[in-house]
Amino acid sequence: MLAAIATSQSATAPLSGLVLEDIPKPEPRPGWSTVRVVASSLNMHDLWTLRGVGHPPERLPIVLGCDAAGYDENGTPVLVHPVLADPDAGLGDETLDPNRALLSERHNGAFAEYLSVPTRNLIPKPDWLTFDEAACLPVAWGTAYRMLFTQAGLRAGDRVLVQGAGGGVASAAINLAVAAGAVVYATSRSEDKRREAESWGVRKAVATGERLPERVDVVVETVGEATWSHSLKSLRPGGTIVIAGATSGTNPPADLGRVFYLQQRILGSTGCTRGELVSLLKLMDATGLRPVIDRTLPLAEIHQGFQLMIDGRLTGKLVIHPQGEPS
Ligand SMILES: NC(=O)c1ccc[n+]([C@@H]2O[C@H](COP(=O)([O-])OP(=O)(O)OC[C@H]3O[C@@H](n4cnc5c(N)ncnc54)[C@H](OP(=O)(O)O)[C@@H]3O)[C@@H](O)[C@H]2O)c1
Repeated sequence: MLAAIATSQSATAPLSGLVLEDIPKPEPRPGWSTVRVVASSLNMHDLWTLRGVGHPPERLPIVLGCDAAGYDENGTPVLVHPVLADPDAGLGDETLDPNRALLSERHNGAFAEYLSVPTRNLIPKPDWLTFDEAACLPVAWGTAYRMLFTQAGLRAGDRVLVQGAGGGVASAAINLAVAAGAVVYATSRSEDKRREAESWGVRKAVATGERLPERVDVVVETVGEATWSHSLKSLRPGGTIVIAGATSGTNPPADLGRVFYLQQRILGSTGCTRGELVSLLKLMDATGLRPVIDRTLPLAEIHQGFQLMIDGRLTGKLVIHPQGEPS
């Protein structure tokens, strides 16, 4: 089967280690299911692996891809919860299992025609959701769901700032917060992405770093250094920043004086539980919300997809079709 494999890592030329290759289909194993992958989607996580961030070189080669939707061995349409972990080891929350692994970290990922995952990680795909839409949800939308509802405890009417409107997680957070009845502000480097965010119901989208019309209750951060100071300054006293990523760098000035004097809460967030992914599906059913898809590409053109992500030219999610484009 065809698969996109990380074979080496480079901070400056990450795509040099991305190889398309024919490899054997995964062998059946007890407690695990083989999924025929209809759709996957690209995440920054795939790029970090190729850049050598958060993925030790001894775990190469590995098939990339954290998101999958397809058919299990019984022909049932499924999506895959991508956190491979033991809920008991995380005191009931598998994202807190010290040994948790995201798909493609320790086990081959979803940029392949077939994928092997623990059967517990399969969730039936509702028929109102397409395979393309389902493949966008587990990482980006699941992460955004946990950030807003579990970590920040978002309530209708809250003011929310989402940094970097064009991102997969950010576009999900914007749409989820709007659907939950929040007043949402967003930033983006791109005028086009700001206009698009406003078409999703954002009250005002501003250029990165520009002052907001009011202070917010919640900030959704995935950009990091480039927006951190603006996030702290935009937050009301007692407000919450939830951070799940730092694309532009991990070490901005801490501005500790502001944090303690204004009693700001800073919460980390990673992935989501299987239960949160199921709750996300229920919310989408209730509201009619669907993921923002920039475009789809066959697996054979995945290098082009990575380049679009590197260049910051995507708005929302890029879907990959491992079985080729449907005719
Ligand atoms: N903790 C978790 O479980 C988890 C899950 C998913 C993602 N993440 C992390 O979250 C981050 C975003 O992931 P993604 O998949 O959503 O990536 P993505 O779709 O490529 O989005 C990248 C984001 O970064 C912004 N950005 C990049 N460079 C910037 C700069 N110099 N200044 C301002 N904004 C900049 C973009 O905003 P504009 O283009 O609109 O300006 C966009 O929002 C990544 O670091 C990823 O590793 C973490």
